[in-house]
Amino acid sequence: MKTLVRIVLGLLVLKVAVANPRFSRQADLDSYDDGNYDVDDVNSENQEYDYEDGPTIEDPEVEIGTLAPPDYNYPMPEASLEEQEEEEEELPLKPQLIPQGSGGSGVLMGPDTQKGMPTCLLCTCLGGSVYCDDLKLDSIPPLPKDTTHFYARYNRITKINKSDFASMNKLKRIDLTANAISSIDSQAFMGLPELEELVIRENHISQMPALPETMTLIDASHNNIDSKGILKEAFKDMTSLLYLYLTDNEIDYIPVPLPDSLRSLHLQRNNIQSMHEDTFCNLHDFNYIRNALEDIRLDGNPINLSRTPQAYICLPRIPVGDLI
Ligand SMILES: *[C@@H]1O[C@H](CO)[C@@H](O)[C@H](O)[C@H]1NC(C)=O
Ligand SMILES: *[C@@H]1O[C@H](CO)[C@@H](O)[C@H](O)[C@H]1NC(C)=O
Repeated sequence: MKTLVRIVLGLLVLKVAVANPRFSRQADLDSYDDGNYDVDDVNSENQEYDYEDGPTIEDPEVEIGTLAPPDYNYPMPEASLEEQEEEEEELPLKPQLIPQGSGGSGVLMGPDTQKGMPTCLLCTCLGGSVYCDDLKLDSIPPLPKDTTHFYARYNRITKINKSDFASMNKLKRIDLTANAISSIDSQAFMGLPELEELVIRENHISQMPALPETMTLIDASHNNIDSKGILKEAFKDMTSLLYLYLTDNEIDYIPVPLPDSLRSLHLQRNNIQSMHEDTFCNLHDFNYIRNALEDIRLDGNPINLSRTPQAYICLPRIPVGDLI
């Protein structure tokens, strides 16, 4: 037993002897630190530092002033070992979400979020895509300027501000599936010149926001939208619109006029009770054919499609619904 204690003491003394000269040497050099510092003290300050410089944490430059004296109980690992530990310490959230030298120009890690962490460390940024799924976010994080695709599914976002997507000139797709959004600033998406796809399904939205004419896909299914919540002629000028999904809402009538480009109109499980003979077709022009619209879903509505047989003559296919 005694010899064991002696060995342990001896080791400690040895460590002090090794550690102290090393530390003072570093302090004298006042430049690089290739070893020994308290990970806890360093991590928050160094995060920002690292983002500006690059994706790796290899850069050994560390401010000496922030270093604590060596802790005797703290082992002195090889530099590479320590870097590993440091990485683990610095990235407590979901290690799989760390971007690995992701592409894209500009500031690599993006702006800081409210949680004090740059967006591309909290989320994954790959090329122009930013993935923030399932991170318990309660607001839209600030996005890098060159974001083209933004995903924040399965979070707790309740509100979309006008400023959230301001001047995002390259943004093409926004997917906010399964949040708790109940309010969207009416102009939140109108400043997006490239926006094509908006997915806001499975939220608590009662008012459809205004959308730019560049849209190709709109999915606002599983919300609380009624016909008062849809702007007059909301979709008329979207001449590239292909998919309009409004399943599981409280919509009372089909949101006409629909652009000729439309391929799919999903209105299952709403409150649509009637339609007009010119909802899809043109009563004044029997040569008019709406070729593109091949997928209309009206099942789960209190509507009897047999009542308006003239309403489908221009369509390639009869809508799905009750023909009773
Ligand atoms: C945007 O939302 C955040 C909270 O999500 C709020 O603090 C901020 O005041 C809002 N900004 C505007 C312009 O409404
Ligand atoms: C549906 O409409 C057709 C044609 O008007 C009618 O014959 C039929 O009884 C209606 N069915 C119901 C359940 O109202």
